[in-house]
Order: sequence, then structure tokens, then C-alpha cells
Amino acid sequence: MTEPSDLLPNLYPVNDYGPVMKGLAIGGLGIFHVFLAQFAIGGGFLMWWLEWLGQTGREPLARKLIDSVFRVLILLSFVTGALTGVGMWLTSIQVSAQTIGLMVDSFHWVWATEWIFFWLEIAAGYAFYRYGDRLPGRTRLALLGIYSIAGFGSLFWINGILSWQLTPGAWIANHDVWAGFFNPTFWPSLIFRTIVCGVLAALGAAIVINAMGEFTRAERERLIHRISVFMLPMIAMPLVAAWYLAAMPADSRGWIMGGSMVMTLFVSISAGGSALIGGYAVIALWRQKQYMNGATATLLAAIAFGATGAGEFIREGARKPYSVREVLFSNAITPAQVASLREHGVTAQNPYPLRDEADYPTAQLRKGRLVYRSLCSVCHTISGANALDALMGGWTVDQKRMNVAMLQWTEGFMPPFAGNAEELEALIQYLAWENAGRPPAWRESNDPATISQIKMWLDRAGTLPAPKAQAAFAAEESR
Ligand code: HEC
Repeated sequence: MTEPSDLLPNLYPVNDYGPVMKGLAIGGLGIFHVFLAQFAIGGGFLMWWLEWLGQTGREPLARKLIDSVFRVLILLSFVTGALTGVGMWLTSIQVSAQTIGLMVDSFHWVWATEWIFFWLEIAAGYAFYRYGDRLPGRTRLALLGIYSIAGFGSLFWINGILSWQLTPGAWIANHDVWAGFFNPTFWPSLIFRTIVCGVLAALGAAIVINAMGEFTRAERERLIHRISVFMLPMIAMPLVAAWYLAAMPADSRGWIMGGSMVMTLFVSISAGGSALIGGYAVIALWRQKQYMNGATATLLAAIAFGATGAGEFIREGARKPYSVREVLFSNAITPAQVASLREHGVTAQNPYPLRDEADYPTAQLRKGRLVYRSLCSVCHTISGANALDALMGGWTVDQKRMNVAMLQWTEGFMPPFAGNAEELEALIQYLAWENAGRPPAWRESNDPATISQIKMWLDRAGTLPAPKAQAAFAAEESR
């Protein structure tokens, strides 16, 4: 197995999405994909159960409902699910080939297994869709069973890889595949997602039941009460969420629980949305046997979409500054490479030129743009999402130099600056040039005093990421 532990990073061409931050491009697609995929998995189990109710005479309307829910399910999961899934590969390989490479290297067979489950899910789902109405009961049940279990299996396998990114656990030391797979957040994450699958399926079915128009009011009430069972596990959500948080590293938990206002806001959206849906499911639907009309179901599904999106945002954000915790920073540099890049520079080896080279009046500005591209652009844009111009445009030039040199001290969710002092100055000049509206002429800044001042700040910042840098500093102080 190879690992990017060499002292200089492997370099891949990256794409720039302009004002849309790179991380945002993946995240945005990811939210749709997760929502659709979880709906498709929960929908499988719901249909399996309904088919059983129908065949055993417990629910005479089950068959009619299955054939209609399934049409929506098929359309959503096969077409949009597959499209967003492929879209995610396409964007993530353009944004962080390094991360994908490490995932494939570390979990090759797990990944292959996941794809086989996914393939089974599609084959069984399509067979049921195409021939379901002509097949005997036992075969229908078997196909739906295969579809559901294969769908859940694909979640099971991918969940190990995604949760490993947040909490690689013992894998860091021993590189054992199973230690990485069954990492500290594997179970809370899997259980949480499984509960969400059931909720999305029930809400989707409630919309369909209301939209069908073939059922009487009493029939609809009975069906809705039946499917609301799939929402009851939400009662356990606060507990599972607490477990999830407890299994997270302390600094990640810190960002979420107030350390970063944006993250805390998203936690509130996710928790509030879930509480609303869960409360409604348990009290109104289950205890009071109330009827859920199409508008309510659609509203709750929209809230669920928001809560799912916020949840995915939290999961991605809690990992900062890493794309694989402790192993790889979001900007595709490893912790071990920082020290050598401080010496050799991050732009020296870069074989990919700027596409718009002619637009920059000086070599220093070109270098600055390259530094920005290599170290910052995965999380920032110049003037779009999380814009550097807005964040630091108003600072004095020395303030910029110092805060960027001490990046992991400025905000703990940023990696340490991984370039040399000349590159840092080039970056500061480039950002100032952008801030000035890209004028046609710009003075090169090459005062040796500035460079040695930056070197001093870089040395003081150290090459360790937060919170290790701070801990090392404190230990140094107390000696
Ligand atoms: C892992 C993602 C990530 C990387 C890489 C990253 N940043 Fe940031 N940075 C953030 C986030 C998130 C914020 C918070 C934005 C906010 O508070 O609205 C931030 C904030 C900042 C701020 C404002 C800090 C403050 O407290 O006011 C500056 C300046 C900044 N970044 C500069 C940079 C520069 C320069 C680079 C590249 C050398 C960089 N960042 C790389 C994620 C990152």
C-alpha cells in the first residue's frame, strides 16, 4: 500500500469553480446524493414490509401502494441518485485527487464490495420494477428483500470509509483495514443514517398516499398510521447523536458546540428540524393517530432535506483542517510534509501552470496565485464563498503576513501554512493586488527585512497543526 508520507506531495491538476468554493461544490452535490440514496434504502425496507403485509392479508391496499411508491422511488434513486453519485466522483477527483487516492489505496476491497452491493441493489430493483407485476408472491418478496439488504449493504460499506475520514482511530498507528473501517464513529453514524432512511421513506410514502387519490379518507388514515412506524426510531436520535459527538475528537466537537458559529448554527438547524419531525411522528401520528395530509408530509420532507444537508455539512466541517484526520489536510498536504515545504516551497515542484498567466503583471503575483491555489483554494475563494477578500481585505499588510504565517493559530480549523517566507509574501501581494481590483502594474516586494520578519512568524507558529501546536508551545513555555 502506498501512502502520501513522502516529504513532497504528489501533485495533480485541480479545477477552479470560480466563486463556488471547491469544498462547496462537492458538499452541495453530496447532500442531494445522500438524501436520495437514504430515501431509496428506507423505501426498499418499507416496500418489503408492505409486500409482506399484503401477502399475509394484513393490509389489502399494500400492493396498490407499492406499485405507486416504487415508481417514484425508481425514478429518484436510479436516475438522480446515479447522476449525483457520478457527479460527486467527477468533482472530488478534480478537487482532491489525493484524498480519493488515499481512500482507494486504504480500502480497495471494501470499496469493491460496496460496488457489488450497489450493483445488486440496481439489478434487483430494476427486475422488480420491470417484472414485479407478473411474478409470484415469493419472488416479489425475495426481490424486494435483495434490493433492501443490498441497499443497506452499500450504506454499511460506504459508512465505514466516510466515518474513517473523521475518526481514523487505531488505523493511524497500525493501518489495519478493519480498525479503520470499524472506527470510533462507525456505529453511531450507521445507526443515525439508518434511522434517517426510515424517516425519509415514510415521508415519501405519505406524500404518495395523499397524491394517489384512489384511496378513501379512512384508507389513507390507516395506511399513514401504518407507515408512521418507520418514523418511530427517531425517539433514539438524541441518544445516537450524543454517542456520535462523544466519539468525535475533542477539537471537532469544539467547533460544533460553539467554537464555530456557522457550524453551531447548522447543528441547531439539524437538531431543531429533527426534533420537529420526530415530535410530530411520535405525538401526532402515533399517539394521537392523526392524519398527515400531503402538504404536511411535503413540508416535513423539506425540513428533513434541510436537516440532512445540515448534518452532512457538520460531518464535513468537523473534520477541518483534515480531509482524513491526522493523515491528510484538506489542501492535500500531509502533516509530515509541512516542514519540508516550509524549506523548499510549495510552488517549486508544481508542474501545472496557471491557465491565465498573462493576466498577472509580475512573476511574484503569479507565484502568489499558485500559493493560493495550492494551499487555500480548497476552502476559500477570492471574492465568492468564504472569500479571502472579505475576510482579510481590510487588514494592514503586516497583520495579513502575521495571521497567515500563523494560520493554525489564527483559526484552529486551518492547516499550518506549508510554504516558505517568499511564497507567503507573494501570496500577500497577490491578495492585495486582487483587493485593489487587479491593476495592470504592481510593484514587486522584495525587502529582506520583510522576509526575515515572516520567517520569524513562521518559526513561532511551528509546523504542527492545532491543537498540537498550542500544546507544544505550552509545554515549551512551562519548561
Ligand atoms: C481546511 C479549510 C481551510 C484552508 C485550507 C484555509 N482556510 Fe482560511 N478559513 C477557513 C474557514 C472555515 C474560515 C472561517 C471563515 C469565517 O469565519 O467566516 C477561515 C478563515 C480565514 C481567515 C479569517 C480569520 C479570522 O479569524 O478573521 C483568513 C485570513 C484565512 N482564512 C486565510 C487563509 C489563507 C491565506 C489560506 C491559505 C494559505 C487559508 N485560509 C486556508 C478554512 C480554511
